[in-house]
Amino acid sequence: MDFELTNEHTLIANSAKEFAKREIYPGLKERDEKATPDYTILKKMGEDGFLGICIPKKYGGLGMDYISLGLLCIEFEKIDSSARVVLSVHTGLNSLALLQWGNEEQKKKYLIPQAKGEKIAGFGLTEPNAGSDVFGIQSSAVLKGEHYILNGEKTWISLADVADNFLVFAYTDRQKGNKGISAFIVEKNFAGIVTSSIHGKLGVRAGNTGSISLQDAKIPKENLLGKEGDGFKIAMSALDNGRYTVAAGAVGIVEACLEASIKYAHDRETFGKEIGKHQLVQQMIAKMVAARDIGRLLTYNIGYLKNQGKRNTRETSLAKWIICNNAFESANDALQIFGAYGYSNEFDIERHFRNSRGAMIYEGTREIHTIMQAEYALGYRVDKPLENLLQAWPFKEDNI
Ligand code: CAA
Repeated sequence: MDFELTNEHTLIANSAKEFAKREIYPGLKERDEKATPDYTILKKMGEDGFLGICIPKKYGGLGMDYISLGLLCIEFEKIDSSARVVLSVHTGLNSLALLQWGNEEQKKKYLIPQAKGEKIAGFGLTEPNAGSDVFGIQSSAVLKGEHYILNGEKTWISLADVADNFLVFAYTDRQKGNKGISAFIVEKNFAGIVTSSIHGKLGVRAGNTGSISLQDAKIPKENLLGKEGDGFKIAMSALDNGRYTVAAGAVGIVEACLEASIKYAHDRETFGKEIGKHQLVQQMIAKMVAARDIGRLLTYNIGYLKNQGKRNTRETSLAKWIICNNAFESANDALQIFGAYGYSNEFDIERHFRNSRGAMIYEGTREIHTIMQAEYALGYRVDKPLENLLQAWPFKEDNI
């Protein structure tokens, strides 16, 4: 296993870093304070190809590998979580699921414009009474003639009020349990779809989060993704990709906090010496260094497994759990190093602290991942080889 980054990796990481500084950082403090997202940034991300980074060129993407996706998430989240969330939802949870599960018609109609950033995509799984407990969803889908009729409520949906297309999960047969959920490609402009925004969030305030209401929504039957009953597997495999982007992004928070803390530890003096010379400050910096290296290694390992086309549910769950915890700890320690200044939004640490907390809840709570890891260790949970895996890289379509 070779963890040295290629020239292409370095190029994409550098261009993501420049993009984030040039397009995302200016005005961010105000957008975050007032919770007013700037949607023109999504358009620019699309124009630069970032939204289709690891989608085959045949389907409108850049055809780069999964490590490149991780590097992009690191650089975007180093500036702000709201930018990385776009990659998690649009690319990780939605577009990669279309690549993995969609038929040729669905890929042409939905994946290509999404990879080019001409259409924005979201993921509708969570409901008011069902987050961790996926089988607890209430949404239903009934086939009537040429359409499925969907009813239900989805909430805490990133980009709900912005996205053009969603992947929506609903029961087609409640009696069949995990084999009774199905996945649908839903356009926002289909009859019976109403979206709204959630206000008052602690973090990710420069990004949109909201709800989707399905009221006798009419979904053409050709928009069923996979087969009836594949929905739970589609959701879980999509989460293997979404959780990877969340884990990688959390490395960006760790690094942002570490770099800012090192600078501040040199600049600030107490008791006649720079605070970096105090051992308790050094302890917090050393923890961040460990978090950075652990985070990078776990991220590269998952990118490697995805490139090989290997199942990575256990590794992704572990990385998402550990790196997100470490990002929160790093932001907490950085805030302590900055003292009172860290408590105000004069510095970016305050925003990273609030942003990092959400990732311990979304895409599988800290508790779900803890339980999953214990179950793997105890032999109660085993990742079986699957028929329908994410495509290995390089993509076969691009090599014909
Ligand atoms: N890929 C493909 N198939 C998979 C899979 C994967 N990653 N994971 C599971 N499956 C398959 C299994 O192979 C199994 O198939 P068989 O029945 O044929 O054997 C089937 O699905 C059931 O799998 P499990 O037995 O593992 O299911 P479980 O009941 O043990 O799962 C759970 C329980 C782990 C708690 C799971 O429900 C879970 O991860 N919950 C958390 C959900 C979550 O992360 N929600 C976040 C919402 S999205 C979000 O936050 C986005 C946003 O917009 C912010």
